[in-house]
Amino acid sequence: MRTVFVNGEYLKENEANISIFDRGFLFGDAVYEVTAVLGGKLAEFDNHMNRLKRSLGELDMALEMDKDSLLAMHRELVVRNNIEEGAIYLQISRGAADRDFLFPSDETPTTIVAFTQEKSLIDTPLAKRGMKVNLVEDLRWQRSDIKTVQLLYSSLMKSRAHKAGADDVWLARDGMVTEGSSNNAYIVTYDGEIITRPLSTDILHGITRQSLLSYIQKEGLKLTERAFSIEEAKAAKEAFVTSASAFVIGVISIDGEAIGDGKVGSMTKALREIYINETLKALI
Ligand code: PDD
Repeated sequence: MRTVFVNGEYLKENEANISIFDRGFLFGDAVYEVTAVLGGKLAEFDNHMNRLKRSLGELDMALEMDKDSLLAMHRELVVRNNIEEGAIYLQISRGAADRDFLFPSDETPTTIVAFTQEKSLIDTPLAKRGMKVNLVEDLRWQRSDIKTVQLLYSSLMKSRAHKAGADDVWLARDGMVTEGSSNNAYIVTYDGEIITRPLSTDILHGITRQSLLSYIQKEGLKLTERAFSIEEAKAAKEAFVTSASAFVIGVISIDGEAIGDGKVGSMTKALREIYINETLKALI
């Protein structure tokens, strides 16, 4: 049984509780981060905590733990749960108050919850096989740059895609791909150009994206940050996604149409290797 963190305490998962009035539960009034654990250490921790601060700031919510305490807490969860490889989920909600659209007073403490998920990240069947994605309209709220727990639309779309035999969805607005249900989206053209949508309120500012783009630049590969269309995606040589738990995973078909030769592409494989190697070097 896991040990989880709730508001400063480490508890067995079946003894951990939060209020039914918690605003994360009633309003989706909460933000989160997912940090990968590799070899019992944390990947990209500072970057995740910087984004957490930004998400909270965008929602006028306070961060009631400093970065050192958050780091100590993440490490404590890794140790107590003996996690070698997996992820730490951290969620901060605006706390518990009687149901009201109006935010509670600033004195209401936030609810801080964290738990571990043990799973293979490096050696996974999906990384080898590649993902099949279906395209759906991006009907999420238009602040996808804030990492809120309002994930119902993406969760519904992914679940329906699964029933239809796909692994995930790519979301598109006005015919242009925004991102995946829980990852950033990229294509590689037959000229070897890597294309991904630029940062805006339309997409989550992925930590994996940020690091991967810097490695791509260091390698001197061709990179363009611009929106790409559904047609371009289907005509691409390769496609892939990035996230903290997937790293870099190939997309082998879109709406049932094979991308390139229908296998994980060579650029995708190389970028996955580069990302994993660089990340392993910088664990804390
Ligand atoms: N998802 N876009 C969306 C909508 C996401 O939910 C995520 C992350 C990403 C990739 O961001 P990062 O590289 O920082 O993980 C992009 C996490 C992993 C999740 O919800 O489980």
